[in-house]
Amino acid sequence: MSIDLTNRVAIVTGAGGGLGRSHALALARYGARVVVNDMSAQGAEAVAAEITAAGGQAVACVCSVTDRPAVQAMVDDAVERWGSIDILVNNAGILRDRTFAKMDLDDFALVVDVHLMGSVNVTKAAWPHMRQQGYGRVIFTTSSSGLYGNFGQSNYGAAKMALVGLMQTLALEGEKSGIRVNCLAPSAATQMTDGLYSEEALRGLSTDLVSPGVVALADEDSPTRVVLLAGAGGFEQAHVTMTQGIHVGASPDAALQVQANWARIADRTGEQVPASGAAQYQHEVEAAAAATRSRSAA
Ligand SMILES: NC(=O)c1ccc[n+]([C@@H]2O[C@H](COP(=O)([O-])OP(=O)(O)OC[C@H]3O[C@@H](n4cnc5c(N)ncnc54)[C@H](O)[C@@H]3O)[C@@H](O)[C@H]2O)c1
Repeated sequence: MSIDLTNRVAIVTGAGGGLGRSHALALARYGARVVVNDMSAQGAEAVAAEITAAGGQAVACVCSVTDRPAVQAMVDDAVERWGSIDILVNNAGILRDRTFAKMDLDDFALVVDVHLMGSVNVTKAAWPHMRQQGYGRVIFTTSSSGLYGNFGQSNYGAAKMALVGLMQTLALEGEKSGIRVNCLAPSAATQMTDGLYSEEALRGLSTDLVSPGVVALADEDSPTRVVLLAGAGGFEQAHVTMTQGIHVGASPDAALQVQANWARIADRTGEQVPASGAAQYQHEVEAAAAATRSRSAA
């Protein structure tokens, strides 16, 4: 197995520091030409210079992922400069933590706007190019806070889980155009986690240990529809699954049967990872038909 990103063109958003910087450097080390996006001009330019100094190709692009015209211009410039856009790492992000009870709705909307709509904006601008060239690798940055919850992060968790939903559908829609779409849930010590977790909890969580996952997801041989967890050199996968459950039918005491059967509904024996949302309908219709067959056989 080998990875060669030579002549691939990548955009990494929020790459002026933290994880984005590590991703940009890692992609460039494998030969990719990198657009280093960040709202911080200082950060973006420093990272682009770091890549260039190491013999790679990079250009800084200073804009917010929430600024649609600027995002469109960033993608158009990349295509004009280097001829394509092959890899998109949606990484830019912010926090506005508070418990839901105390959360200002403007802070909720801002976090959704940056993480979800920011990723949508850049992906929407890159998508036609990827479709036209029949190739693309899109990575969304989700989080364990979205996948599993985290006290004080309702806005962030909702936005991050929305990206998993976006991935599920874009992976299906992109498949026939050679576009693969995945999510990364990193854990790393950055300015974002400063003060959020103790020094002890963040030990060993270097951003550089996450980026190999991004490189693998950016490669031609990447999977699609994977939620890859990465931190401290460890890699895991999260699945959205469906249990076998139970069929209750149109019984007058259906609610009572649901209540009495939580354990069977939750039982993970025979659990599946549905290939699309249609699997739920199919499973339920089949279970209903099987129940009808067994009633008529009785
Ligand atoms: N650090 C972790 O443990 C962790 C865990 C889960 C998810 N994440 C996610 O990883 C990504 C990177 O986080 P990080 O820890 O490196 O944080 P960070 O704060 O170090 O880096 C985020 C970068 O995004 C930039 N940015 C913020 N808003 C932007 C915008 N609107 N447009 C363009 N750039 C913008 C910032 O200037 C900064 O350089 C984020 O999406 C974050 O939610 C991080």
